[in-house]
Amino acid sequence: MLSYNNPSLVLSNSTEPLTGTVSWKCPSNIAIVKYWGKHGMQLPKNASVSFTLEKAFTNTEIKYSPKDNSENSLRFYFEGEEKPSFLPKIHHFIDRIKNTFPFLRELDLEIHSSNSFPHSAGIASSASSMGALALCFCSLEKEIFGKEETPDAFLKKASYIARLGSGSACRSIFPYASVWGKHEDVEGSDDYFGIAFEENLHEVFKSFRDDILIISKSEKEVSSTLGHQLMDTNIFAKRRFQQASDNLSLLLPILEKGDVEEFGEIAEAEALSLHALMMTSNPSFILMTPNTLKAISRIRRFRKEQKLPVYFTLDAGPNIHLLYPEEIQDRVGEFKKEQLRSLCEGGQILDDRVGLGPKKNEEK
Ligand code: PMV
Repeated sequence: MLSYNNPSLVLSNSTEPLTGTVSWKCPSNIAIVKYWGKHGMQLPKNASVSFTLEKAFTNTEIKYSPKDNSENSLRFYFEGEEKPSFLPKIHHFIDRIKNTFPFLRELDLEIHSSNSFPHSAGIASSASSMGALALCFCSLEKEIFGKEETPDAFLKKASYIARLGSGSACRSIFPYASVWGKHEDVEGSDDYFGIAFEENLHEVFKSFRDDILIISKSEKEVSSTLGHQLMDTNIFAKRRFQQASDNLSLLLPILEKGDVEEFGEIAEAEALSLHALMMTSNPSFILMTPNTLKAISRIRRFRKEQKLPVYFTLDAGPNIHLLYPEEIQDRVGEFKKEQLRSLCEGGQILDDRVGLGPKKNEEK
């Protein structure tokens, strides 16, 4: 079992100045084979694979200095405004990683965070925000203790830490695509961290489009914590974990050869399975709205009539991710304008695409 526990990382052992700033930009990701159900300390019941997004991201900056023993050693600002309501979540995260980064408890931390997407757009931001925080914490270690490591080792550790903030966040650390969870067909895959899935990814997917149709801006009806928990008693759980594993086995060669139609079939089946699981849980949840269903049927009709490879996936909510290759973006643009925009709250669609992964913001 991988462990990053390191009791020697206390300020008395630091080699560098104890005051400074670290800052990272981390994108969100969209799962194609979904993670739904966990055990132990944020470990997945099945392996998943996701695309890293480009335009939906969180920017996080941490200003650090030695603790002055005032009570207020952690402050959090979201889009310029102090938000004490976010603190319990961050304290909980820091508590989980206290044996990896014991020095965090010796520091005053001022965290400034902002999202590229509207706050109330019903988009889960935990992957990008926890990813950005994890990257900042790893950079803090590097800056305070002058740690030398390869870029790959840095990202592996950041992914491990991000997982402890929010499971799916561990996949946001890598460019293009990532696999998280041990799977016999993916060498190096692991339950404790995500890995890059880049080398074997066909070019068509590296510029794939993912437009987010904001069907509803409302807050999520079910937290993912509760959603995962419901899988402990869902009567289809065992079959589902097998299905996810089989779908990943099927998807890997498809991602490699670039077959967009076969890709789309699996992506849609996975999204609908996730929602079926929510419907068959106890308590049960229906997270799609009438407009979600209308959009799905229009996407399927457009695909059939126009013979164009346009597919959808869903998160655990009503919003739709429209997936298609870059080369048909003009045709899809017209379709969105004519048939999908009216189904979105405030006509909002966030045009996104597969992206290059996180980026450290260097000081100007
Ligand atoms: O990372 P969490 O605990 O918010 O769970 C995310 C679950 C889904 O988004 C529904 C699926 C996934 O694999 O990202």
